[in-house]
Formats: sequence, C-alpha cells, structure tokens
Amino acid sequence: MRAIGVFDSGIGGFSILREIHKLLPGMPIHYFADQAHVPYGPRSLEEIRTFAEGVTRFLLAIEAQLIVVACNTASAAALHHLRKVHTMVPFVGMEPAVKPAAQSSRSHKVAVLATPTTFDGELFSSVVERFAQDVEVIKITLPGLVKLIETGEVDGRQTDNILKMHLESVIADGVDTLVLACTHYPFIIPSIHRLFGSKIKVIDPAPAIAKQTSRVLRRMANKIESGTPAKINYYSTGDPEALANLALQLIGIPGNPCAVHWVGMNEVQDKP
Ligand code: DGL
Repeated sequence: MRAIGVFDSGIGGFSILREIHKLLPGMPIHYFADQAHVPYGPRSLEEIRTFAEGVTRFLLAIEAQLIVVACNTASAAALHHLRKVHTMVPFVGMEPAVKPAAQSSRSHKVAVLATPTTFDGELFSSVVERFAQDVEVIKITLPGLVKLIETGEVDGRQTDNILKMHLESVIADGVDTLVLACTHYPFIIPSIHRLFGSKIKVIDPAPAIAKQTSRVLRRMANKIESGTPAKINYYSTGDPEALANLALQLIGIPGNPCAVHWVGMNEVQDKP
C-alpha cells in the first residue's frame, strides 16, 4: 500500500503525525523533517517555497499518495504553489485556527502564536479578514522556542522564560484564547497550563488536520487499513537517528530512521 507523506522543518509535524496515526493506525507514513534548514520561521517565503518543492518531489518519488504540509510556515509560503504545480496530488495544509478561537473567546481578545513568516503570508491576513471581524487578534512570535523544542526541551526553565516573557502581559490584558499556529507548539501545552492556569483556552488544530487527512483519503477511494500499526519512516536532512529517538520520546511512535540530503537548493536524495 502507498503511504502518506508528512513534512515539517523539524519535529513540529510530530504533533500532526501523532493524531493521524491515532486515527489511521494502519496507514504507512513517510515523515520528513528538513532539519538541515530548521527553523523555517525566520527565512523568506521564496526560500521556504523552494525547500517545500524539493521535499514534495522527494515524497512523491517514494510513492506518497497524499501530502500533509504539517508546518504552518511552509503552508503559508508554499501550499498555494504546490497545489498549482502538482495538480494531481492531494495536499492537506495548515491554516491558523482563528475561526474557532474567535467563536469561543469570551473576552474577544485572542493571541495567535506563529513564526514571523506565517504572519507575513497571505493566508494569515485572509483568515483574520474572514473570521475575526469582531475580535482583537494579537500576533505573537516566540523567538528561540522552535530551536528548544527541536532538542526535546518542552518543559524546562528556558521554555518557561520564553513563554512568560511573551505571554504574561497579553494574558493579563485579557487574552483568553491562544491559537497554536506553529506545529511545534502543541508540545508546550502542559507548560502553558502550568504557567497560566487551565482557564486559558489553547486551540491545537492537529486533531482537525488528522480528520481532514482521513476524509481526503476516503475521497480517493483508498482502502484504509485499521489493523496492526503500520510502518513509519523518519527521513531527516539532519540526524535521522536523533529524529526517530525524539519521535519515540515525544509521541511514542517507533519508526525507521532514513538519511537524506540536499543536492543543491532544491533536490533531496537518499544519503549513500
Ligand atoms: N513547525 C513549523 C510551523 O508550523 C515551523 C517552525 C520553524 O521551522 O520555524 O510553522
């Protein structure tokens, strides 16, 4: 059976992989982390589009039948382009979950946590325009946090300091809902609740993305295996062994580490 391709700059897409695997345990998955280039957040939209195109071509070459862009930054930079270029391939992408946040906020003040590039993309302005007419939307980038989470540090002192520095004052000012618009951030939900109390509402889009993935697969008339857990491959342009170990530690899903590397700016190949 062919596989689902899931990609991110690093381990952020694990938050999406965890939900897809829960929903479709029999589905083989190629997880791809472009750790040679992580973090994507401070890079330009053009550069990220080039990487996303290279990763997509690699995933298609290893027979991914559906691609989940499990990265808000890459979705902001490249989703539109990927759909235009690969017209036969179904893509599932990330969109900041501003709509449910606007609907559930009692204070009418929500904060979106994302990378600078996600805020720069058209997708963000479009969701705010469509769904957040009656609420105040505060944009928050959390510099340094993606790099920390990449090392597996999801609840240490440094993580706490970044969260306190950027969230304390907005929460004190009445923000009652946080939108996680970076796939690395679901791993710090326990820290958010420990620091700011369980009343603060945190919106994690991962379960909705997994449902959407399953819907798209069904539409493709795919036979979805639901029996024994399927094989997961962990591809990294950095250190695939470390990637597979972190997957086990953070989401409890074992898999096969696979080394790949960039040849030039836009082509990924297996590492000999
Ligand atoms: N996980 C990513 C996102 O959803 C990318 C973070 C980064 O590489 O800066 O935006």
